[in-house]
Amino acid sequence: MERKWWKEGVVYQLYPRSFKDSNGDGIGDLRGVIEKLDYLKELGINIMWLNPVYKSPNDDMGYDISDYRDIMDEFGTMEDFKELLKGLHERDIKLVMDLVVNHSSDEHKWFAESRSSKDSKYRDYYIWRKGKNGQPPNNWGSCFSGSAWQYDEITEEYYLHLFSKKQPDLNWENPEVRKEVYDMMKYWFEMGVDGFRMDVINFISKVPGLPDGPKGEGDLYGNFAPYSMNGPRIHEFMQEMHKEVLSKYDVMTVGECPGVSPELAKDYVGRDRNELNMIFQFELMDIGKGRTKWEEKPWTLGEFKAIMSKWQEELSDDGWNSLYLNNHDQPRLVSRFGNDKEYRVESAKMLATMLHTMHGTPYIYQGEEIGMTNVKYASVNEYKDLEILNAYKELVEGGLMKDEDFMAGVYRMGRDNARTPIQWSNSLNGGFSNGTPWLKVNPNYTEINVEEALKDNNSIFYYYKRLIQLRKENDVIVYGTFKEYYKESESIYCYTRQLEDKKLLVVLNFFEEEVEFLVPEELRGSTRNVLISNYDNVPQDDHIKLRPYEAIVYKI
Ligand code: NOJ
Repeated sequence: MERKWWKEGVVYQLYPRSFKDSNGDGIGDLRGVIEKLDYLKELGINIMWLNPVYKSPNDDMGYDISDYRDIMDEFGTMEDFKELLKGLHERDIKLVMDLVVNHSSDEHKWFAESRSSKDSKYRDYYIWRKGKNGQPPNNWGSCFSGSAWQYDEITEEYYLHLFSKKQPDLNWENPEVRKEVYDMMKYWFEMGVDGFRMDVINFISKVPGLPDGPKGEGDLYGNFAPYSMNGPRIHEFMQEMHKEVLSKYDVMTVGECPGVSPELAKDYVGRDRNELNMIFQFELMDIGKGRTKWEEKPWTLGEFKAIMSKWQEELSDDGWNSLYLNNHDQPRLVSRFGNDKEYRVESAKMLATMLHTMHGTPYIYQGEEIGMTNVKYASVNEYKDLEILNAYKELVEGGLMKDEDFMAGVYRMGRDNARTPIQWSNSLNGGFSNGTPWLKVNPNYTEINVEEALKDNNSIFYYYKRLIQLRKENDVIVYGTFKEYYKESESIYCYTRQLEDKKLLVVLNFFEEEVEFLVPEELRGSTRNVLISNYDNVPQDDHIKLRPYEAIVYKI
């Protein structure tokens, strides 16, 4: 397998709005990030993925961009950005930016022009259609509730927005749009940026004619997925982008790709495809979701492992995995897959052990390294995420869901769970800001915070630090093959990694009940040294009892 820096690295995802506020306006900013670079260096990460920092009216917290070549006022200036980039490079940390080009903001100058007249040169930068009998052009619903079409009075047509109505979809059929995007990418690469995470990149090619989507029982709108995900020209566009831009630089790319199976993934990340390095898959993130994300569906460890192992196996010698258990759109991993109460520390370390010992590049989402948890605000009015607020209007105010059921869904799955400010210390606002934070700090900051973590040798932080260090020292973790044992177990995840004569055995107890573990037959009697574990005094015997959420990595 070809060796690459982005395979060997560990990524830290940084959501600047909630990281560190340096000027007291309650909003995290670039100078706040600069202040904390030594903290990230201490953790040991070598790649930073920075969520969008471009000019934006922040309808969707920076995912609605009004100028792709400038920095958002709340976050600072271009000078600050350049200083951040320099500070990262001085510490041998690469910078990956967010590329949000399925849509722009409706406040982008292209859209202002586009909307002004059917004759504008920019009209065709977006997707405009006539209505049908006074109704939108098709039945598609948007990801953020309501129709995916917005009527515009100036020219009496509708424009498509798969996300909010302030995020009109760009028309990738238009070669001028593609050229604008490629030029903009080069602008950032020339400045020294090391890669892009590409927002819903598999949405950019739409099936011509934009047919109505399937509508399930009880659904208010049709589903655009079959006609706007992995569309007919997607690979042509990705290959063109590669040829025009990516092939000219040594950069990392990761595409956010909902609705992609491992088979489809190979078309995006396969060796000879000349498209992307890796994608974010959603099969694991969709586990436990009911008809809507606000309704719960029970899941089993068996299902969880089947998804993880399938991706490990399918992309074992062609393509590359991205390993993540949460991000700014998902609940906190310890609340979702672990135990955020009695066993918060043990389960956070267990999940981290899995993340850092699989085949692929691990992504740590800010706050994960200190075991930050989900949050529960009393009322929907305390939330800021438009996905939550729009869904509340549509479902609760529309009489389709009870307030308490919806709020239970928000506590479980809402995106603001991951967006509460970083808890730096137990002082006012968790040390995040001297002003009023844009989103309330999780009240558990008095116990869970960076200051505490740095004082305690046994903290989650230092465990992450060791895991990151182990990846640097053991190429078997990066390049070794993956083999699973005890697939049918509903309590233990067990696998080996092997590179030539180097072999690791990973054993993870996913629950708080103790469970017996017998070393797989072919490895019994072998000499095993503990490389890392979340408990002390790990026995060397073939037959052991795993403690709650115990994780052990043996070197064989
Ligand atoms: C995925 C991003 O991660 C999410 O935060 C955003 O709302 C949508 N794409 C739309 O850009």
